[in-house]
Amino acid sequence: MKIAIVYTSKTGNTEELVYLIRDLFFQRNVEVKVYRVEQFQDMAIDQFDAMIVATYTWGNGEIPYEMMNLYHAFEMQNVKHVVTGVAGTGDSGYEQFCGAVDQLRDMLYVHTTLAATLKIEITPQSEDRKRCKKFVDLLLERVTQMRQ
Ligand SMILES: Cc1cc2nc3c(=O)[nH]c(=O)nc-3n(C[C@H](O)[C@H](O)[C@H](O)COP(=O)(O)O)c2cc1C
Repeated sequence: MKIAIVYTSKTGNTEELVYLIRDLFFQRNVEVKVYRVEQFQDMAIDQFDAMIVATYTWGNGEIPYEMMNLYHAFEMQNVKHVVTGVAGTGDSGYEQFCGAVDQLRDMLYVHTTLAATLKIEITPQSEDRKRCKKFVDLLLERVTQMRQ
């Protein structure tokens, strides 16, 4: 099973979430590859069974600029069979809490097999762990279904 997490993080909150998610996959005996979006240059989405996109939200509920190449790659490639999840951190003090997660979710729903979304307030706390586990399990269940 080939799974990747591609993420962006300015101040480290989303990065922390990414490494928590990676550890939860490890606990399920699943290895995942982690890439900063800038390192995922060939945009070879197709080589993975599943991909998680993780992001903060910027501006007024916006997707960070550095994510946009990946966003367009999903739109332009034939990747309906790739299982996806979108995760993000945000601040509910802003009008559109995790707006980037919502926008990515809508696009991934159309162009991929979207399995789960996850929004975290600022940085993952111990009480968020259950939701993070659920996110990982939903992803794994969907990949298993797709392989049958
Ligand atoms: C200028 C600015 C705009 C932001 N806009 C939003 C927003 O619209 N919605 C939201 O949920 N969070 C917003 N945030 C909060 C960040 O998304 C949040 O702090 C996030 O955890 C940062 O992730 P990072 O540490 O991975 O960079 C904004 C933060 C800044 C500094």
